[in-house]
Amino acid sequence: MSKQRILVISSANIDFVQRMRRMPYSGETVIENELMYSYIPGGKGANSAIAFARFGADTVFACKLGHDANGKRLRAIYDREGIDTRYIYEDEETPTGLASILVEDNGKNRIIVYPGANMTLSADDIEDSFTCYPDAVYMQLEIPDEAVIEAARRANEAGIPLFIDAGPARLDFPLDKLGKIEIFSPNESECRIFTGVTPNTEENCLRAAIRLSSLVEAKYIVIKLGDKGAFIYDVGKREYFTVPSEKVEAVDTTAAGDIFTAVMTYVYLQNKDIVSAVKYATCAAATSVTREGASTSIPTRAEVIAYAKAKVAADNDKDNADAVVAEGDE
Ligand code: RIB
Repeated sequence: MSKQRILVISSANIDFVQRMRRMPYSGETVIENELMYSYIPGGKGANSAIAFARFGADTVFACKLGHDANGKRLRAIYDREGIDTRYIYEDEETPTGLASILVEDNGKNRIIVYPGANMTLSADDIEDSFTCYPDAVYMQLEIPDEAVIEAARRANEAGIPLFIDAGPARLDFPLDKLGKIEIFSPNESECRIFTGVTPNTEENCLRAAIRLSSLVEAKYIVIKLGDKGAFIYDVGKREYFTVPSEKVEAVDTTAAGDIFTAVMTYVYLQNKDIVSAVKYATCAAATSVTREGASTSIPTRAEVIAYAKAKVAADNDKDNADAVVAEGDE
């Protein structure tokens, strides 16, 4: 497999994480004495960039940090991951982004993001980052709309394939300004925001995907359905496929979607086979939800292959795992 240069233009945060047995009601104070809090590197863009790097991609990350201790810590982490940090900029005035994350016992989370410096990423920064000559451009929507639109315009102009993870979604985001997209991937709630359709049955997934295909010019729509798997819609052929999830005990689902979309993109860039890319991503996301935190839960390619081999050996729900073993052993 040849090494592709993937330019991730997106967000970086420090995650302030608290685990709890249940969410407090309005006006209630809950004491969780035995459950510690932690500060973990996160941000949808950074989580994906680290996933690309751990899979072996030539990863370039363009983002904006604050000129502060958190920014310094994050940059050092990206350097250690082998990410190209030349296009990581600092804003003197605004602090590094921070996400407050509450994780319940069932692994589900609620997240509030203070975007801080992420919102100062400018068109000039985007122009500069394209001088790395990427083979693919990957973005989420956690940076200014203008930055996303400018990067999409440049990618389209240069004929560079564009991959969009549609989180976090906003009804008024101008999807029509993104131009040609290789894969557009929302999760369930993002899908509902953009289409008004809850993707809770195969029929509704198809309705939502057809609606999305009228809003964006994408080759594939991939709807992430969490523990229900993923729905793939091939827009040109009007074909769809459902890929089941892997059955695992979830400890923390934070960043599972970021990891899923990054791994799907990485594998798709290698083999152009959307179904096997989604199966691979499903195994990567399953591995991640058994671990705590955002970037701390991202598996390496070798770990995902090992997970799949163990599944195949146990002959247990092994459809997705088979695809990983077949690709991974090349
Ligand atoms: O998708 C999970 C991520 O969303 C967290 O790491 C948090 O920083 C927010 O960006």
